[in-house]
Amino acid sequence: MKPEGKEPSHFQGVILGLFISALLLTIIQGRLRNEWGPGFLTLRVTVNSPAEAQAAPEAAASIQAFLEASKVFLNPRCVNCHPKGDAPLQGDQSRTHAMRVRRGPEGLGVSGLWCSTCHQAANLPGEHLPPGAPGWQLPTQDMPMVFENRTPRELCLQFKDPAQNGGRTPEEVLDHVQTAPLVLWGWDPGEGRAPVPVPHPVFVKHMTDWVKKGAVCPQ
Ligand code: HEC
Ligand code: HEC
Repeated sequence: MKPEGKEPSHFQGVILGLFISALLLTIIQGRLRNEWGPGFLTLRVTVNSPAEAQAAPEAAASIQAFLEASKVFLNPRCVNCHPKGDAPLQGDQSRTHAMRVRRGPEGLGVSGLWCSTCHQAANLPGEHLPPGAPGWQLPTQDMPMVFENRTPRELCLQFKDPAQNGGRTPEEVLDHVQTAPLVLWGWDPGEGRAPVPVPHPVFVKHMTDWVKKGAVCPQ
C-alpha cells in the first residue's frame, strides 16, 4: 500500500469536479445569453413538444396561403396604385398614368392636378372615364407601399414590417384587405376594366390562413 497512491486520485477527483462545474456554468451562461441560438431551441422543442411537431405543416400552409394571396396583390387593379415610381399606373399593362399625374408628398397628387380633380367617390359611368372610390389616392412618398415588381417574399416581408406598412400588425393588414374601400374597388373597377379574378372572400380566406398559421414568409 502506497499512501501517496490515494492523494493523486483524490486530487484528480477534485480537478474533475471543478472541470464539470466549469463546463455546466459555461452551458448555463450560454443558454442565458442565448448563444445557442434558435437551432438549439428548435432541437429541444422538436424533441419535446407534440405541439411543435405541427409547426412545420402550419408554416407550409401559411406560406402557401400567402402565395395564393400574392396573385391578388400583383393584379394590375392593385399594382396600379402601388407603383414603385412617382406616378400611378393605368390599364392591364400598368402603363404610366396619362397627363403627367404625380404622386405628390401625401399621395394626393400635386397642386393643380390633385387626384380628386378627376377621381370621385364612385366610378364615373362610361369607358375611359375616371374610376373612383372614397379616398382615392396613392400611398405617401415617405411610405410608398410598393407592390409593382415585388416577389411574394418581398411583399410578405413588407406587410410584416410596421415601418413599411403604415404601422400595421399582420391582423391589421388582414382587416385592411377585408374592409378598405380602395381594396374593395378592385372587385368593382368600373366599365372597361377587368375586376380582380380571385373572388374577394377567397382572397380574404387566404390572408386569414396566412395570419392564423403564423404569418410565415416564403423563402
Ligand atoms: C386629369 C384627370 C386625372 C387626374 C388628375 C388623375 N387621374 Fe387617374 N385617371 C384618370 C382617367 C380619365 C382614368 C381612366 C383612364 C382609362 O380608363 O383609360 C384614370 C385612371 C387611373 C387609374 C387606373 C385604374 C386601373 O386599374 O386601370 C389609377 C390607378 C389612377 N387613375 C390613379 C390616380 C391617382 C392616384 C391620381 C392622383 C395622384 C390620379 N389618378 C389623378 C384621370 C385622372
Ligand atoms: C386608388 C388607389 C389604390 C388602389 C386601387 C389600391 N390601393 Fe392599397 N393602398 C392605397 C393607399 C393610399 C394605401 C395606404 C392607406 C393606408 O395606409 O391606410 C394602401 C394600402 C394598402 C395596404 C396596407 C399595407 C401595405 O403594406 O401595403 C394593403 C395591404 C393594400 N393597400 C392592398 C391593396 C389591394 C389588395 C388592392 C387591390 C385589390 C389595393 N390595395 C388597391 C391605395 C390603393
